[in-house]
Amino acid sequence: MTGDGLGIVENGTVRIENGRIAEVAGLGHDPNSPGGIGSCPSHSGHVPRQEIDCRGCVVMPGFVDPHTHLVFGGWRADEFEMRLAGKTYKEIAEAGGGILSTVAATRAATEDELYERELARLREMASWGTTTVEVKSGYGLDTENELKMLRVTRRLGEADLATVVPTFLGAHSVPKGSDKSDYVRLIIEEMIPAVADAKLARFCDVFCENFVFNAEESTRILEAGKRHGLVPTIHADEIESSGGAEVAARVGAISAGHLLQPSDAGLKAMADAGVVAVLLPGTCFFLREAHKPPVGKMRALRVTMALATDFNPGSCTLLAQPLAAQFGCIYYGLTIVEALRGVTVNGARALKLESEVGTLEPGKRADIVVTDVPDYRHLIYRLGHNPVRMVIRNGRVTYRAA
Ligand code: NIG
Ligand code: FE
Repeated sequence: MTGDGLGIVENGTVRIENGRIAEVAGLGHDPNSPGGIGSCPSHSGHVPRQEIDCRGCVVMPGFVDPHTHLVFGGWRADEFEMRLAGKTYKEIAEAGGGILSTVAATRAATEDELYERELARLREMASWGTTTVEVKSGYGLDTENELKMLRVTRRLGEADLATVVPTFLGAHSVPKGSDKSDYVRLIIEEMIPAVADAKLARFCDVFCENFVFNAEESTRILEAGKRHGLVPTIHADEIESSGGAEVAARVGAISAGHLLQPSDAGLKAMADAGVVAVLLPGTCFFLREAHKPPVGKMRALRVTMALATDFNPGSCTLLAQPLAAQFGCIYYGLTIVEALRGVTVNGARALKLESEVGTLEPGKRADIVVTDVPDYRHLIYRLGHNPVRMVIRNGRVTYRAA
């Protein structure tokens, strides 16, 4: 067992002060020594010291899930059944189902209804150890409903279950009855300024596919987002090879998701531009996609690989970030170390949050997961097992397994 690349500390302690990690120390290799997480007194000594005994556990950074569509109305079990009977995701989308059916359900829901639903799902995510989650809009597809989704997202962040990072994805699909070029203009001239003015998003995303927003349209939208302070990210080369990786590099995107079929030139450009690849193996599995991302090429080019759930009602209903890591290994061929980095430090890089979360290092937020496994390999090896015993956020215990 090596775990090289994980910075494992045997029999360690993590000291927390004021919600941040103050110290990570090893206690040596005495198996009888108490490994534990504790919070120490402040210098005045008035704050009581609390110790959490974590003997026999792996204590690790909270999971960072950098690509989800957590907020939406309705479900799409009907489409799931159609796909099992042989229809493809693209055929269903082109027949007016897919994203557009979720748009109708999301528009019909009130802000409070969406909030109550998503709060329950966020709680479920948190019980799987996710402490930071990105959430995209994209089921409103008009200014009013996109803003509604983003307000729900902001409220979810205030619920103190996880750090919630909002992304504007008005360019998820063209709404029913709209002309595509009119809709692109609406996104650029009205939606992006409104979202930026209200400070409701950090990132701007586009579903870049030849049959949705092509490379040229995607570039224009992401450049407009940049002019309003929104950091670009992109759904790239998922269903078809559409030049998405090239767009990611050209606009300087922080990350590109999916990447089942990027061109070699696009991948090289991404590597040169330092774009993080966000791999979504749950989606590939759920859609029974034939293509898989070229992980070997990414590795050779030293592309940073993050992993995410892509939780959404159509292409992947996975909420559990540890399972994304398991799929990453078993289905995409990542090593255990790559997968665990993918759901922690590299997930944080995909959200530009690597100075705050993703590792247990002094100065970072004390977002910590205590897992009931004997060593890091079991996090992947125990398929479908929820290893999370306890979640600590900003130094406070926010979840305990029953
Ligand atoms: O990341 N690919 C585009 N967006 C989602 C799917 C959304 C949906 O089908 O509702 C994805 O897979
Ligand atoms: Fe997605």
